[in-house]
Amino acid sequence: MANLRFLVLGSAAGGGLPQWNCNCSNCAAARDPASPLSAQTQSSLGVSVGGSDWAIFNASPDIRQQILQTPALHPHALRHSPIKSIVITNADVDHIGGLLTVREKQPFDLFATSAIEKVLDANPVFGVLDPAHVRRRTIRLEEAFSPLAGLEARMFAVPGKVALYLEDGEPELGIEGEQTIGIEFLSGGFRAYYIPGCATLTDALAERIRGADLVFFDGTVFTDDEMITVGTGVKTGQRMGHMAISGKDGSLEPLSKLGIGRVVYVHINNTNPIWRSGPERAAVEAAGMAVAFDGMEIDLERRSE
Ligand code: MLT
Ligand code: MN
Ligand code: ZN
Repeated sequence: MANLRFLVLGSAAGGGLPQWNCNCSNCAAARDPASPLSAQTQSSLGVSVGGSDWAIFNASPDIRQQILQTPALHPHALRHSPIKSIVITNADVDHIGGLLTVREKQPFDLFATSAIEKVLDANPVFGVLDPAHVRRRTIRLEEAFSPLAGLEARMFAVPGKVALYLEDGEPELGIEGEQTIGIEFLSGGFRAYYIPGCATLTDALAERIRGADLVFFDGTVFTDDEMITVGTGVKTGQRMGHMAISGKDGSLEPLSKLGIGRVVYVHINNTNPIWRSGPERAAVEAAGMAVAFDGMEIDLERRSE
């Protein structure tokens, strides 16, 4: 049977690396051809069973560039796309902005929770996704659905908050509902997870992902006050709905104890020191975890059935 293939289309958080208006040391390095750090696009993951049809998890504003730089996603005929479905994990701009790019009367299924559907419906610009071609599929939490033949998935609540542009005063942090979800993949005897935004690794979440073959996890910031320290912003990771990698409430230590085959940090903010070699990246690698990059491919070879 065909392999289960994961392809990181965009490893960076909202804004990308470099961010258009940022000249922090990472962003400057990503613009410098002499630096080993290269530009990285915004948060998205491709998944395929066998490599011909693809489901895209989060439609990043960079989706046009991501498709262009990924031959597996190019059309095979005059009008065609290997992208059969798009699944949204929250309504932040970095995860829905690309829906405006894939508007060219191409059939695909768009999977989201009803809360995320409501956000799309409240913004008339998303009406460019012609319902005659784009099939809206509203998925309940914990309900099995199939974004591709041979791939079973589930959406589950993870602690988060409403999208940035929906904040009205101080948002409630760490809410668990349909606004921020993780994805569970079950295919060919494998269990894998995609969790690009997560405010807290609750006991229930830890138990869920324990022993998984592969987990892509929120790597937005290394330290909670990183944006403040670097001088790019006033918000903590927690205030943005993202738990830090390091520290007593960080993800690194608990994730390293869950017997997970492979942990890959994704949705990495441009301020995060793990982009470059140094003690922070070394700490991640010493724990056996990986830092995503655009084009990173992970194949899980089917176990014999
Ligand atoms: C986030 O992940 O915190 C958001 O993408 C922020 C944003 O929309 O810029
Ligand atoms: Mn984001
Ligand atoms: Zn920057």
